Amino acid sequence: MPTARPGTRLGGCGKRRDLLCFFDVLRHRRFFFFSRVLPRFVFSRFSNAARQAAERARRAHISPQISRARLTVSVARTRHPSPHARPQKRITDQNPSVIILSGGPNSVHVEGAPTVPEGFFDHCQAHSIPVLGICYGMQLLVQRLGGQVEAADKAEYGRMPVHTVNDSLLFKGEPGTSQQVWMSHGDEATRLPEGFACVGKSDAGAVVAIEDPARKLFGLQYHPEVTHSERGFETIKRFLFDIAGLTAGWSMQNVLDEQIAVVKETVGPDAHVICALSGGVDSAVAATLVHRAIGDRLHCCFVDNGLLRFEEQTRVMKMFKDHLHLPVTCIDDSARLLAKLKGVTDPEKKRKTIGAQFIEVFKEYKVDVEKKTGVRPTFLVQGTLYPDVIESCPPPGSDQKHSHTIKSHHNVGGLPKELGFELVEPLRMLFKDEVRKLGLLMDVPKQFISRHPFPGPGLAVRVLGDVCAEGALDTIRAVDEIYINAIREAGLYDQIWQAFAVFLPIKSVGVQGDQRTHSHVVGLRAITSSDGMTADWFQFEPKFLQEVSAKICNQVKNVNRVVYDITSKPPSTVEWE
Ligand code: XMP
Repeated sequence: MPTARPGTRLGGCGKRRDLLCFFDVLRHRRFFFFSRVLPRFVFSRFSNAARQAAERARRAHISPQISRARLTVSVARTRHPSPHARPQKRITDQNPSVIILSGGPNSVHVEGAPTVPEGFFDHCQAHSIPVLGICYGMQLLVQRLGGQVEAADKAEYGRMPVHTVNDSLLFKGEPGTSQQVWMSHGDEATRLPEGFACVGKSDAGAVVAIEDPARKLFGLQYHPEVTHSERGFETIKRFLFDIAGLTAGWSMQNVLDEQIAVVKETVGPDAHVICALSGGVDSAVAATLVHRAIGDRLHCCFVDNGLLRFEEQTRVMKMFKDHLHLPVTCIDDSARLLAKLKGVTDPEKKRKTIGAQFIEVFKEYKVDVEKKTGVRPTFLVQGTLYPDVIESCPPPGSDQKHSHTIKSHHNVGGLPKELGFELVEPLRMLFKDEVRKLGLLMDVPKQFISRHPFPGPGLAVRVLGDVCAEGALDTIRAVDEIYINAIREAGLYDQIWQAFAVFLPIKSVGVQGDQRTHSHVVGLRAITSSDGMTADWFQFEPKFLQEVSAKICNQVKNVNRVVYDITSKPPSTVEWE
């Protein structure tokens, strides 16, 4: 029986001239190759920015075929006596059409920061390979070619305007000379290498776009790959198609066909598979795909872990029955899990506890299925998405344990080794909006496709501190219900990527009726995003917030204050824990 996980197969790239090489000089020190053949995802961890740029390339119908190689620094520090030989050879072997040096948290001035192999730029020039450096990638390009990079007087984070030169290659044909972009940097280029022209500046005068058309070298200080960069996608497309001359040919149908084939191959002709449905889009799409691949050997359950929203168990079970037409077993595990969570306040510990308990439930469900079918299920489907993977893993070879780990998503970080299931994760390399497209392709009903995402640990990450604190879960359920209903009634639900209420473990003073009260504060969050990797807060009309706040304080006992979260991601995350 094959043991490889779908979505993490090793794929050789061969010698192809129509490859787009994504040289990731970020925290994970990998590089990537894209071609027009079906995607073969080789490994699970690489940088956010690299992955997002890959996703944008796919939107441009360029199919990523991803390979890997250690970059100079990790090679130099570890096993290889000749630090530059191997990566350079990889580039030569892969023979890419395009190279993107992606962004990341490093500074070029820090010893051991990722870099490119000796002779890298000569090789690119000799083979006429266009190179685009993004954020750190641009700084690296500037520094390695003899320019200067210095710590900026003021770091620039978040959305801001930039001004571009539109007869440049990067911005040719842009409708205007200003656009909003997403910036996230502390260093900046203060002197450009010979041959480069500055073709974009920030309001503060920082160089944000550079190009050397003769050598086909380009740099963007901002992140064109994130959705909050207004015309970033256009710039990436211009680079891929107009500058590099790639042609498009990738589609979501490719992903579907390949993943069905991968599931069939991985699971084989006889094995049985179980899947926990959450009611959200990811597990619904994952289950539908696996069902297409293996039919009734898929067994689905829905676990009520006590951390669901208002009347969610009833509503979701009805949705499965009426719309998904997959048989689903409902398991009520709320009492057991809540007993384990009592008094736990550390967010990571909460996630791990919830993850471990989920696994216990799966193991028990496995026994039930075996009793029913006579076959022990050996595979578990999970709707793990790419953001879960990259935000849960420290970069390999980085010697870091958790410094770059944002959180352990329960379906990635919290699985015990002795799990006893092979994982089937057909969405592991996709972002949420891609999953929605995949779902639509398989006729997954809108009820599932359009539901706001709900995290695996449920309300545990929305009740700060102890989830079992008196009244916390009931309070947040009531507040959330009022808030989401108001959003639906205002016709805003589909404009918002995710909206929810947060229970804060603090009390504040208020005046209700004729009395002073000392009651809870609740937070409301609503964001726009396309993948959950970056997000902006949703700008409600003040009247909407005023009415919701009044309703909540009037209808929910023990709440006398409502605050609205106006932070983007970064610097915040979407959830509060
Ligand atoms: P953050 O808070 O990481 O959220 O900015 C990004 C997206 O991921 C969801 N999320 C989770 N999903 N397990 C999940 O399955 C988790 O532990 C988890 N934490 C966050 C979050 O709701 C948002 O959609």
